[in-house]
This record gives sequence, C-alpha cells and structure tokens, in this order.
Amino acid sequence: MSEEKKLWGGRFTGRPDAGFAAYNRSFDFDRRLFAADVRGSLAHAEGLRAAGALTGDEAEQIKTGLETLLAQSERERDFFADETAEDVHSFIEARLVSLVGDAGRKLHAGRSRNDQVATALRLWLRDEIDAMGASVRAAQGALVALAEAHSEAVIPGYTHLQRAQPVLWAHWCLAYFEMLARDRERLADARRRTNVMPLGSAALAGTSYAIDRERVARALGFDAVSRNSLDAVSDRDFCVEFAGAASLIMVHLSRLAEDIIVYATTEFGFLELGDAISTGSSLMPQKKNPDALELVRGKSARVFGHAVSLLTLLKGLPLAYNKDMQEDKEAVFDTADTVRASLDVMATVLGNVRLREARAREAAARGYMNATELADYLARKGLPFREAHEAVGRIVLHAITRGAELHELPLDELVALSPLIEGDVYDALSLEQTLATKSQAGGTSPARVGAALAAARASLAE
Ligand code: ARG
Repeated sequence: MSEEKKLWGGRFTGRPDAGFAAYNRSFDFDRRLFAADVRGSLAHAEGLRAAGALTGDEAEQIKTGLETLLAQSERERDFFADETAEDVHSFIEARLVSLVGDAGRKLHAGRSRNDQVATALRLWLRDEIDAMGASVRAAQGALVALAEAHSEAVIPGYTHLQRAQPVLWAHWCLAYFEMLARDRERLADARRRTNVMPLGSAALAGTSYAIDRERVARALGFDAVSRNSLDAVSDRDFCVEFAGAASLIMVHLSRLAEDIIVYATTEFGFLELGDAISTGSSLMPQKKNPDALELVRGKSARVFGHAVSLLTLLKGLPLAYNKDMQEDKEAVFDTADTVRASLDVMATVLGNVRLREARAREAAARGYMNATELADYLARKGLPFREAHEAVGRIVLHAITRGAELHELPLDELVALSPLIEGDVYDALSLEQTLATKSQAGGTSPARVGAALAAARASLAE
C-alpha cells in the first residue's frame, strides 16, 4: 500500500523520520477500537447532518461507506494489514475517503482525534465491562454449583493457615461468591462513569458546529454527555477505575487459586483436581500440577502492573490531551483480556475439582478446633470468658500430652481440670453442635448457609 496521507500534512514540508513514524504508530494495537470508532463516526455523521454541516446525500454516502468498512473488517482476513496507518482513526478516514471520496473528507468537521479516541475507548470498554461482568457471574455460578455438590460437607477453617474452627464447605465457597459479588458491583459502578460521551469536545475547546450532543449520545447508548471539554479529552480515570476493579478481581481469584492449590496438596488432601485442568511433569511421572491456578495467581501481577502504569501515565500531565495517553490502550486491552481469561479458566477449574468429603470432615474433627466451644461451654456455666479461655488452654495442653482430642478425654479428667464440666460437654464438643451454634447472620450454621446458598442462587438469576 502506498504511503498514507497524513491527517495533518498541510503545515509540513518535511517527511517524518521512519524510526519516529514507527514509534508514533498505534495502529497495531488501537485497531481493536475499529468497530467502536466506526460506531462513533456513524453517530457523528448523523450529528453533522442534523446540524446542517452535511447534506443528506453526503451523510448517506458516509454511512454506506462506514458500514461497508465494518462488513469488510469482519470478512477480509488481511483487512488490517496496513503498514502505513498511523492509528485506527486515520486508517478509517483514509479507507472511507478511498471508498466515497469528498463526502469522506467532510466527516472530521467538528471533531478531533482527541474526542474521537476518548469516545471509542469508552464505547469499547463499556462492552468489555459487560462481558467481564458476565464472566464474573459465571465464576459465581461455578462456586454455587461446587457448594451444592457438597452441601453437607465440612472443612477445617484456618487463620494463619493453622486449624481454627470448622466451617461448612459451602460457607467457604460462598466467601468467594461474596468477593465476586462486590467485584460485579465495582464493575457496574465503573461502567456508570465510563458511559459518558466526550464526542463534541473536539480537540480541547468544544465544537463550533451546532451538533446536538445529547442526541448523538443517545444514538450511541451513552447515559450522559461530558460537561467540560478540557476534562473530557484528557480524562482517563475511567480506565483507572476499570483497572482497579479488575485488580481486585485478580486479588480474589489469586486467593481462591492459592486456597485450592493448598487444599489439593497431598499434605491437605481435601481437593482432587481433574485431569482437564492439570498438567504433568516432563521428568517426574507421578506429578499432577495445578498449572491453571498458578497461572491465575501469576497473571494477577500484570493486571496490577497495568493499574500502576495507568496511574503513572496520568500523573502530572498538563491539560488537556497529550500523546502520552496513547499508552493507555495496551494497558486497558491487556487488563480486559487477562482478567476475562482468568475468570473463565477459574470457572472451568471450579467445575473440575472434587472435595474429598470424608478426609475433610476427618480433618475438621481434629486439631482441637472445638476448643472455643469448650470455652463457650464454660462461659455459659458462668465462668468469665477470659478465665474459661485460660482453663481450656490448660485442658488443650493436657490433651496434647495425652495424645487425644478434647472430646476423647474421659469425663473425670475433664472435671479434674475444670469442675464446671458435666456430662453434657460431649454434645457441646460435637462437630454438629460446633457448626449449628454459629447461627447468627453471616455464620456457618447449616441453616444460615442453606439460606445464603439459596439467596446466592437467586441473585444469579436476577
Ligand atoms: N492515537 C491517539 C491516541 O490513542 C489519538 C490521536 C490523537 N493524536 C493527537 N496528536 N492529537 O491517543
């Protein structure tokens, strides 16, 4: 293809240095904005027509031309193979002009690439946020299914990765469900501020064409038009918000990944990973590795990196548009790609893990995880909790030397250590009671978790 005619050629007599031209180019990545930018251009053409800046015939030619390009982009494999295009905006304009001639040359009236790129990026990101929200929801669905698959199961709960108190398996699943529910809210909130139209801000000062911006915004599905042109062409905080919401998704996925990795070790042995999401070793024939989860954990790093890149990119930029901002796109694109892929893989993993219920229950019944129950038991008998805690500490110490669990100690030994203890203590120490007593809102009692699971299911159907 012959050298592209620059959008800004008139003022120049010299030609750009080839190395600089390559450095300046963004087409290799911002071509992902192609469809969004065409949509923006279609709406702008209609805005110009309604303002009397284009005849009906010219607007029609532009519309047909842009729609032809859109169709070609979907059909032709090497449609984007253009070594000369500076960016997606100049690419579209050049293609349009070669299709429809002079009418195409009129399209850029009343706009700049500055409001154009901000508009295209917001349109693109709006769709991406919706898609990511759907992926979050699918991962939540997988958590609910995994909870329902083992609805009576119990696992040890941990603090400091030391056995703490038993919890229902479903309670653990729903903990991650809640994190992802907040992630969906954050995405929805970021979407609200993303869905504002900069078009009509032109280069920085606003447009002098009588374009009805509200109407253009409605045509593009924007909820509002930007209120300040300087801000609108140089604001990328919507990208930062997206990267922030995306980063928290990765924080949550990486914690989930880590839990599953740990629970699937031989040492824990609670979870069995399916072949579909595991890999082997090139050397050690016995190995089955949780690569999918390690990658989710690892890919969080690049997403956090993008969030920091975007903040650093914007920091200290003078108003209004600066070319620095061209660097926003790869960060946003890769964030979207990485997070969506990670969510989708995680949903697949969740569909391919199985809880070894007997082993998990066995673990939940040992390790003195009912010590708090015994302290509560003594407190119910009137002992101040601090003293009860102290007494049970001594009982645990005794039990450790005896090599027994608390509920395995005979009554006379227990009574010798605390005279308030009676025969009903064994009931209080049972796994069933330990769980059933956590019956306030948010607790792990079977009744509470059953209701939470039903509510989670219902919220997914909304
Ligand atoms: N490709 C640019 C970007 O992504 C948009 C072009 C604006 N360029 C300019 N020199 N005003 O930010």
